[in-house]
Amino acid sequence: MQQVNLGMIGGGTVGGGVYKALRENGDLLASRAGVRIHLIKIAAKAFDEPRKVHIPHSLLTTDWKSVVEHPEVQVVAELAGGTTVARDMILTALRLGKPVVTANKALLSAHGEELFAAARQFGANLYYEASVAGGIPIIKALREGFIGNRIVRLYGIVNGTCNYILTRMKEEGAEFADVLADAQRLGYAEAEPSLDIDGHDSLHKIGILASLAHGFWVDPARIHCEGIRDLARLDLEFAGRLGYTIKLLGVVKLMGAAVGRARGKTRSRLVQVAVYPALVPNAHVLASVSHSFNAVFVRGDVVGDTLFYGRGAGQDPTASAVLSDLADAALDLKYQTRSRIPPFVPHERDGQVLPMAEAVSRYYLRLSVVDRPGVLAKVAAVLARNRIGISSVIQPEGHEGESVPLILMIHDAPNRAMTRALGQINRLSVVKAAPVMIRVENFE
Ligand code: HSE
Repeated sequence: MQQVNLGMIGGGTVGGGVYKALRENGDLLASRAGVRIHLIKIAAKAFDEPRKVHIPHSLLTTDWKSVVEHPEVQVVAELAGGTTVARDMILTALRLGKPVVTANKALLSAHGEELFAAARQFGANLYYEASVAGGIPIIKALREGFIGNRIVRLYGIVNGTCNYILTRMKEEGAEFADVLADAQRLGYAEAEPSLDIDGHDSLHKIGILASLAHGFWVDPARIHCEGIRDLARLDLEFAGRLGYTIKLLGVVKLMGAAVGRARGKTRSRLVQVAVYPALVPNAHVLASVSHSFNAVFVRGDVVGDTLFYGRGAGQDPTASAVLSDLADAALDLKYQTRSRIPPFVPHERDGQVLPMAEAVSRYYLRLSVVDRPGVLAKVAAVLARNRIGISSVIQPEGHEGESVPLILMIHDAPNRAMTRALGQINRLSVVKAAPVMIRVENFE
């Protein structure tokens, strides 16, 4: 059977997982693909790093260049992470015409266009299934399964740490800071958690999915991003009473063709791409995606609604995605079809991201107000002045102290109007703390 030689960079969690999966399922993969993946070298930070999976010293080196430049290495897997040396690793391999498999979402988000251009220039492919939602084959689904669909909507729960924290806040009625501290103690959250909890990891992933779905590279700087650090136990509780669950969502919505202002009368594809916590109706399938699981909901104009669910991180799920890419890379080498599925095809020249100020949605608003007649009228007057309609109001009884919570559900309104109204509400003397605004997703 034909064999393809693999050089791997990264002997940590993901590298160890790929080593183990190849050892255990390499024969299975070979019998299905008709080509065997032969791991010949692994570059690691050190020979004696603590590893869950033992890697024989004979396979290890600490010199990544010697792996990439090894004359027998035909495919390189970059599983080291980071956005500086990892970029050099990938570019070095591509310049040598060697296809690369990577799990590195932060790198793709920051340097995707450059890396894809290099792949094109040097006739080598770049595969990145493991970069988004771990073991869920969402990249393959978008590039191949849905190639005949216009992607109308895509919603992703793509950060397991946030989903784990939100699930526990809801189930235990606990505050964010307490759950985060416990998650860090249990190893579910990083010691430096901001990449996850401030939404940046979700932004990297949702930017990759949005780009693939819409055929123009979405500049990460244009993706509106809010994390979960400001959510309170009360918000999950009130959302629950109203029939919703709060999830951190990555949102990609095709808004239709718009007349591009910058290009005169050119028609451009306008897409909303954003990451924010949202109230998800309990009847929607994404509301029941709990703990550290990920899910991606895709609506295509031909296929209709589809759902992908699974583990978005961890040694084995990530290894599963890397193996899928390795099989593709090996098959492309075997059949000399290096660019059968190019890493990214920019086919939408005039794609644009909708400015968040123009995005329209429903809202949940939690105010902390003095308990006095006329307060609701003052708040309602501000909303009315901004042409914003209220759909329901709750003021729970039994709260004691200076201020009480006031919950308003708001009809569809543009973000710009809502932001302006919130500023005005915040200045009312009867309002005692900064208003909390969370979007409500209706999945239409
Ligand atoms: N830290 C991520 C998560 C996994 O919690 O889902 C890696 O992207």
